[in-house]
Amino acid sequence: MWKLRTIPFAAGTVIATALVFWGQTAQPDLPPGPVKAKATTACTECHDARIILQQRLSKAAWTKEVDKMVKWGAVVDAADRDLMIDYFSTNFPPDKAPYVAERSASTKSKK
Ligand code: HEC
Repeated sequence: MWKLRTIPFAAGTVIATALVFWGQTAQPDLPPGPVKAKATTACTECHDARIILQQRLSKAAWTKEVDKMVKWGAVVDAADRDLMIDYFSTNFPPDKAPYVAERSASTKSKK
């Protein structure tokens, strides 16, 4: 009876692997920085990085943003809060050029 157990497991592994690869290509990375790994873990749990990449906020606004996300459930170590605020406000300040969203090929051709 090993087949009955093995087949769903094998199929599950294939699907899980496909989803991981799909996820990696579909989601852009946060920029390099000292808290990139922690921010990726804490901040892409509920939404992808794009919602962050497109922000252009002052440090005060980033402070509110990070605190709001923590209130909503983001897991940020108290010791990392200020580092994360610095990281986001350095990378996504108000005077940075606007974010240009990647388009799929089908959207590109229409104008
Ligand atoms: C517990 C889930 C959760 C986590 C974890 C989380 N967010 Fe969010 N975030 C949300 C929700 C919900 C929204 C509103 C989404 C929407 O409008 O589609 C949001 C929206 C945002 C926005 C858009 C502006 C706004 O306030 O609506 C930014 C920027 C953002 N999050 C940044 C972050 C950062 C930075 C982190 C890590 C510190 C983070 N998020 C972690 C749930 C989360």
